[in-house]
Amino acid sequence: MSNKLTKTPEWKALTDHHNKVKGLHIRDLFSEDVARFDHFNSVHEGLLFDYSKHGITQDTLTLLLNLAGACDLESRRNEMFDGKKINSSENRAVLHTALRRPASDTVEMDGKNITPLIHETLENMKEVSDSVRKGEWKGYTGKHITDIVTIGIGGSIIGPQMAVEALKPFANSDLNFHFVANVDSSDLSETLRLLHRETTLFIVSSKTFTTQETLTNAQSAKDWLCEKLGSDAVEDHFIAVTADIKRAEAFGIDANNILPLWDWVGGRYSLWSSIGLPICIAIGFDHFQALLDGAHSMDKHFQEAPLERNIPVIMGLIGIWHRNFCDSSALAILPYDQYLSTFPTYVSQIDMESNGKSVDRDGQKIDYATSPVIFGEPGTNGQHAFYQALHQGTDIIPCDFIITAQTQNPLGNHHDKLMANAIGQTQALMQGQIDEEKPYKNFEGNRPSSTIILGQLDPYHLGMLLALYEHKIFVQGAIWNINSFDQWGVELGKMLAQNVLSTFDKKENHELDSSTRGLIEHIRTRKKP
Ligand code: F6P
Repeated sequence: MSNKLTKTPEWKALTDHHNKVKGLHIRDLFSEDVARFDHFNSVHEGLLFDYSKHGITQDTLTLLLNLAGACDLESRRNEMFDGKKINSSENRAVLHTALRRPASDTVEMDGKNITPLIHETLENMKEVSDSVRKGEWKGYTGKHITDIVTIGIGGSIIGPQMAVEALKPFANSDLNFHFVANVDSSDLSETLRLLHRETTLFIVSSKTFTTQETLTNAQSAKDWLCEKLGSDAVEDHFIAVTADIKRAEAFGIDANNILPLWDWVGGRYSLWSSIGLPICIAIGFDHFQALLDGAHSMDKHFQEAPLERNIPVIMGLIGIWHRNFCDSSALAILPYDQYLSTFPTYVSQIDMESNGKSVDRDGQKIDYATSPVIFGEPGTNGQHAFYQALHQGTDIIPCDFIITAQTQNPLGNHHDKLMANAIGQTQALMQGQIDEEKPYKNFEGNRPSSTIILGQLDPYHLGMLLALYEHKIFVQGAIWNINSFDQWGVELGKMLAQNVLSTFDKKENHELDSSTRGLIEHIRTRKKP
């Protein structure tokens, strides 16, 4: 498909259709169909997806579904769930969905059922989390743990950090959670400054156990611990989560404290695996299981619901409409729930690292746009920052509003005000307001948004929400015929950073371009205080 994608009758039909409907105003679509909301929303359990505030008609949806058919979306989806090696550049299966399946299910990988392995590891996570939560896990001097520092980067930390924050009301309040990712020593130093060695537990999360940032931070954390408690203390204060057990052991982590991970779990899809250990310790195993169950429920919906009511499919196709036919280059993620404050960062990684590609699965350069730029902030904060551009800027930026109907912290009428702001924003973007006398007060409206409402932000519903975004991204990757599960684009920068590091102490760097050489010289002369 791919290079042929834009030549297909389905793509051409959508281009023609766009020319016909681009003059329509969403406000008028609501006037023409008073039940438009009923016709353009879909509900799965406690999650409502409203897609009525887009400039689309039933014909648009039909044509988008035709495109999905032409791209074999359903077969591609089944290949993923069946464990086919769809990550072709790394020759790997993509089976994060297996991590949330019940123990009674069978999932075959290279002729072996992997479900027992998954549930054995879950049992292991239960033991570790119970023991830390109950104060049974003792540090080297016999004190129980008060602080858990997760060291990792990218997919090995963004998801756990986001979920621990999102589920704070369900967390054990006697434990403090910290996350260190940046190789900038300020990140680790500022974290350790607050902590006591005897009561701190480190979780080093790295699928490969080779990542520069993580290993540098882990080594410095180990040095900090051993400086006062001695090297024998490492056994009681370090856990590793990795697919490379040998490397973790070589680092000095006790074999009993290493939780496994598998190559068929991609980094940014790994919070459901042992990478989720910080979440499991924070909220306890039963809540962690509820998170998995919520995601599994969304998996089943994605597999079983008819495409025209299938939320990840519709969400993905609407994204295709905006990106490829309306030329929108960004997507704003706007959670109206303070506990989802880092959700936009999480979505930006899973979307942009998965679908920020410009060759197809056969290595051919593609001639259509892929992942939009993802950004966002929790409402209402963003309203007083970048929403100006959403309402009156020259670019049309589709928005995902994510709202939680129940607050965890009832206080006066805060929550009503929060909800009113969210809904008011979607309405303002859609309908606009004409002021012919004062053009600066003119709002053209016709700015598209989806609204997702969760009954409540509990582990189950969070699991559903996260799986929804995973599958939406899958749908788009399938239409674009790209490999959503590799990330070669991060490699060159990593390699060149290593080269630059090795030149810092060299006086002459004639082989480098003048900018790179100039920057290195500039830093060399100023880095010492
Ligand atoms: O940034 C690239 C990347 O490979 C991510 O995909 C991954 O989540 C992250 O680095 C961390 O990798 P690891 O878990 O191997 O340390």
